Amino acid sequence: MTGTLDIAIQKTLKSRINEVDFNNIPFGKVYSDHMFVADYKDGQWGDLRIVPYENLSLSPANAALHYGQSIFEGMKAHKGPDGRALVFRPEKNAQRFNRSAVRMCMPEIPEEIFVGGIDALVNLDKDWIPENEGNSLYLRPFMFAADEYIGVRPSLTYKFMIFTCPVGGYYSKPVRVKVETKFVRAAEGGTGAAKTAGNYAASLYPAQLAAQQGYDQLIWTDSKTHTLIEEAGTMNIMLVIDNKLLTPPTSGTILEGVTRESILELARDWGMDVVERKLTVDEIITAIKENRLQEAFGAGTAATVAHISAIGHEGVDYELPAIESREFSNKVLKEMEAIKRGEKDDRFGWIHKI
Ligand code: COI
Repeated sequence: MTGTLDIAIQKTLKSRINEVDFNNIPFGKVYSDHMFVADYKDGQWGDLRIVPYENLSLSPANAALHYGQSIFEGMKAHKGPDGRALVFRPEKNAQRFNRSAVRMCMPEIPEEIFVGGIDALVNLDKDWIPENEGNSLYLRPFMFAADEYIGVRPSLTYKFMIFTCPVGGYYSKPVRVKVETKFVRAAEGGTGAAKTAGNYAASLYPAQLAAQQGYDQLIWTDSKTHTLIEEAGTMNIMLVIDNKLLTPPTSGTILEGVTRESILELARDWGMDVVERKLTVDEIITAIKENRLQEAFGAGTAATVAHISAIGHEGVDYELPAIESREFSNKVLKEMEAIKRGEKDDRFGWIHKI
């Protein structure tokens, strides 16, 4: 459905869907047949179109390649029991996308183009939505500077695009994470709350060092003291200690996760004690040592709820309670998946039906 949006649609002459093994899909390597494109120039968005998924042709002087004006989002579509495509809270991602745009000096995009583009694209490629449990169609909207210019200033032209990929889980097993106390993901006043390419680029080297030590991910700490936990590179961090759900508050240095917010809302709805406050590494290690830490997990669109099996800090690996014993995270994962698949009542109004 394209609603009132004027989207030109050019369909592929040959679908690639039969080449895909839907029982065995790696994350982020298989792309559906079409993509949505809109161009920004002369102060407005226009030329909305859907075309076959294909490579782009860019100038070597493309401003985004040099100075990093590039932002993105991630969402997932599932197929509901009646065969309709269901997208989880896309308006939240549209709003965060625009907050990222403002921080990166890029133009905002009207929510109706962001969500309308998703509607039209997912509707066209709905056969690409995997139906087996744990799988989904990952949606990747992004925007980048399009000027051919290597002077340092905000670009005057931009491209907004969406492509989709059928995906399985982001992590195939519970993750071992290292508390990072040397490198920094984000500092106050920086771009930590924006979903911008540079934040991910900055995380690669420390994450690679941690991988060499056997860790799957990092838990970032604050840039000034390295004593407060922030987030992991691909997800927000949550802990259950003394039966309370704890997570650091989103501030300028932490991404405002849609999964994070939804989990907190569910926990509150279930009557759980939810505490958003600054959390020190020391209190977490003490809680582990005193057997008061019951659960630790990451929350994100791609990762959904990713159990943390061990936390490494200052050369010591702390093994965490068995996954089967984790009441809250197992329950919330099941509930979120059921809501996203339309198998449970959408009592919070989170589901956008296409
Ligand atoms: C998502 O969860 O959708 C993300 O954007 C994380 C990504 C870097 C895989």
